[in-house]
Amino acid sequence: MLRSFVFAASLCLAVLLGPGPAPAAEADQLFKFYCAQCHGLTGKGDGPNVTNDFPVSPRNFTNAAEMDKLSDADIKNVVLDGGQAMSKSPMMPPWGKTLTAEDVDALVKHLRKLCACKGKQG
Ligand code: HEC
Repeated sequence: MLRSFVFAASLCLAVLLGPGPAPAAEADQLFKFYCAQCHGLTGKGDGPNVTNDFPVSPRNFTNAAEMDKLSDADIKNVVLDGGQAMSKSPMMPPWGKTLTAEDVDALVKHLRKLCACKGKQG
């Protein structure tokens, strides 16, 4: 009797708590929600928001040669402060008020997966 109660209770708890956050999936969601409209679902810089009057194309994150020129800190800065703060296009919005530092770290990892590159070290 007691044992089956404990079993049922732990089952409830497991359902309530769920499988827990999966960081990789989370970065994927963040990217789809905030970045894909310009950078494209697969990061190729071909999102539905991009029109001919964009003065510059959003970075193609699958271009390893270009992405290797950026360190992880460079990516973080441009995401937090926007293109303009990094002498790039203001078409790249700043996300520092929207995303947490952890979100941005997760996105940096996501971009490194898309380019399959390590980036400039240091
Ligand atoms: C409104 C469109 C738009 C959205 C939304 C957007 N970007 Fe951008 N992004 C751009 C454009 C345009 C550039 C190119 C700026 C340039 O090269 O001058 C850019 C550049 C960048 C760069 C710099 C690449 C480089 O070579 O320096 C990074 C990193 C980046 N975006 C990450 C992100 C991330 C992460 C998100 C989501 C949180 C995001 N962007 C959302 C338009 C956008």
